[in-house]
Amino acid sequence: MSKILTETFTPDEAGLVHAVDVLRSGGILAFPTETVYGLGADATNDSAIARIFSAKGRPSFNPLIVHFSDLNIAKTHVCWPESAEILAREFCPGAMTFVLKKKAKSPLSLLLSAGLPSIAIRIPDHPIAHQLLNIFDGPVAAPSANPSGAISSTSAEHVLNGLAGRIEGIIDGGQCKLGLESTIVDLTERPRLLRPGSITIKAIEQVLGEKLILNGPKDIIISPGQANSHYAPSASVRLNATDKLAGEVLLGFGQMACDLNLSLTSNLTEAAANLFAYLHHLDDGKNTQIAVASIPEIGLGLAINDRLERAAAPRD
Ligand code: TXA
Ligand code: MG
Repeated sequence: MSKILTETFTPDEAGLVHAVDVLRSGGILAFPTETVYGLGADATNDSAIARIFSAKGRPSFNPLIVHFSDLNIAKTHVCWPESAEILAREFCPGAMTFVLKKKAKSPLSLLLSAGLPSIAIRIPDHPIAHQLLNIFDGPVAAPSANPSGAISSTSAEHVLNGLAGRIEGIIDGGQCKLGLESTIVDLTERPRLLRPGSITIKAIEQVLGEKLILNGPKDIIISPGQANSHYAPSASVRLNATDKLAGEVLLGFGQMACDLNLSLTSNLTEAAANLFAYLHHLDDGKNTQIAVASIPEIGLGLAINDRLERAAAPRD
């Protein structure tokens, strides 16, 4: 694929107008959200959606999340059960993605849902994403803005390192606050967790008043994007490290000697926010082995461990 010029837009009115022009003309544009950077395209434009798959090297069977500025507009595209209403009252806008049955008359591109009868929707809680969606005045499909299978991007620099020359533009909105992707809940039948994320299982079950069905063993892939090897740095990854072996750099957690520490005070929110940024930092092309300390399997730790296990999984 020949290289294209990737423009960086400032997150002010003039920058956003240019960014929206990219979307309107069928281009692809990275933008910040509170979770990670997204790589957006007009969700009703098949050729723009195809560009996303090709820029990321993403398999076309892996569907995309559609982002809306407003929940009421999102509802016009999907069947909306009571469970969605209850969760949306608490978590919308925010880091929750809802998988719902698509209405037959929805004009969303068939390509973005990879042939599934369902659609994943999210209302991001980020002022720049919100303004972009508002000015564009339409649905924007956006996967995380990274080459397929690689570490997600929590800054404009990460996006450019992975995708410069393959996308028309990026809005630089600084660091993403949460640093970990949204939690995905499938509400097409009984509520089921498809991907742990920034909103914890416990918080969701409390609001819902019932247990979520959790996915089975990791080799049963219900969400097509939940491949075993994912979020992978170029370096190899060893988990549950207590110290570093020869040739390794150590990503620590809590009080310990290490090269970088996800959270000195063992704070899981801080660790989640730092996770991808620190993996990018340690994966500098010189280090070939990254060891990572063990993270408690509670609360946000479940989502952090989900990402780390996939980062450490055997590569194809
Ligand atoms: O925080 C996030 O969710 C970010 C920001 C940009 O919104 N997006 C993100 O997108 O993480 P992506 O494409 O990297 O991950 C979306 C996941 C994939 O695993 C995909 O398979 C799953 O959502 N997905 C999308 N549509 C689905 C559907 N209809 N049914 C089941 N899983 C779906
Ligand atoms: Mg992703």
